[in-house]
Amino acid sequence: MTAEPVADLATVIDAIRADFPILERTVRGGKPLVYLDSGATSQRPVPVIDAEQEFLTTHNAAVHRGAHQLAEEATDEYESARERIAAFVGVSNPDELIFTKNATESINLVAYSLSNASFLPDSRFTVRAGDEVVVTEMEHHANLIPWQELCRRTGAVLKYFKVGADFRLDLSDIDAVITQRTKVVSFTHQSNVLGTVNPVAPLVAAARRVGALTVLDACQSVPHMPVNFGELGVDFAAFSGHKMLGPSGVGGLYGRFDLLSQMPPFLTGGSMIEEVFIDHATYAPPPARFEAGVPMTSQAVGLGAAVDYLSTLGMEAVAAYEEKLTAAALEQLSEIDGVRIIGPLTTENRGGAVSFVVDGVHAHDVGQIMDDEGVAIRVGHHCAWPLHRRFGIAATVRASFALYNTLDEVATLAAAVRRAQKFFGAVK
Ligand SMILES: Cc1ncc(COP(=O)(O)O)c(C=O)c1O
Repeated sequence: MTAEPVADLATVIDAIRADFPILERTVRGGKPLVYLDSGATSQRPVPVIDAEQEFLTTHNAAVHRGAHQLAEEATDEYESARERIAAFVGVSNPDELIFTKNATESINLVAYSLSNASFLPDSRFTVRAGDEVVVTEMEHHANLIPWQELCRRTGAVLKYFKVGADFRLDLSDIDAVITQRTKVVSFTHQSNVLGTVNPVAPLVAAARRVGALTVLDACQSVPHMPVNFGELGVDFAAFSGHKMLGPSGVGGLYGRFDLLSQMPPFLTGGSMIEEVFIDHATYAPPPARFEAGVPMTSQAVGLGAAVDYLSTLGMEAVAAYEEKLTAAALEQLSEIDGVRIIGPLTTENRGGAVSFVVDGVHAHDVGQIMDDEGVAIRVGHHCAWPLHRRFGIAATVRASFALYNTLDEVATLAAAVRRAQKFFGAVK
């Protein structure tokens, strides 16, 4: 894909798909691949693959160390990627963007830093017994377990917002859940199961009123809509490269500079130090403080190319196109008797993760028939077990879209669901 930002991706969808060679392959005895599992991981376009290859064949060296030309070039490429990725997510100071392995590591970084701060003299980062950490019932385990662990280590109490029957967060008791004891409010921007897009503003405002830190899990929003962390006003935000057309093994953590510069590190060792003596050390300013060891470098460069690719298309256009795919999926799946969508039925404040159950057929069986048809979807609890428990469901089928999917593929999905129903005798 080249050219200017496009008004409607549908007009250039063939060119976009040509950038993703994997979409041309067939599976299961010649069925065209219909890849509807981008919520788990997205595919990479040629410019991303090329950027990684170019880096590895031309500039590869350890960054921020060597005194030779390759080291200088590698460092420039790595820092240029940081600048472009920061700008893409609305972060004006690139030093507020830390490279991590993925969103899971980003969230753990914050949780462990707070845990480490508990050994320091009192600060706003200190979490102690009786303090509170707030999450929601719709969190991916990546944004739940690190907080459970922080609470276990410090004696803090984990509280959560419930999800209503409308698949939206129930914020009616916001001032009872977020209190003077709250230290952290961490929540997902978009649910990876329900597709629900959560309202950030009231949660940030409530957290601010009590001086709590906010952490946004932006894994499922950054790849699909314009996201500006600066405007959202969150203190921290996490995302993963492999879900946004980039490589695996690289993710991002945004943190407000004044916070990052006061926080203790998570991992310690080389590169994150200022001065080292045999018995103690002082730490470098952010972002280096939080990037111990030789970082993932070709991956960061690849992620830089991914945000260039997305920016060329324009995130408004990406969001508008994916909304059409989601609307078609919601409509076509709703028309099938015996299919229940677990998530909002309209595209309002909703993204393209469409989860459903098929009455009388286990999600894994649906998945198998889909796979026979070449349709790659995800089945299970999608690392959101408490949410599935909330709705009394063991497992759902999830189709999740990206900018390279088509309306024809949505129709193939619906046809495959009908086929699964027939195969398992679930239709009268
Ligand atoms: C909402 C959400 N948060 C966090 C994660 C964890 O992402 P990663 O495994 O890339 O760290 C995922 C992955 O599916 C997700 O959907």
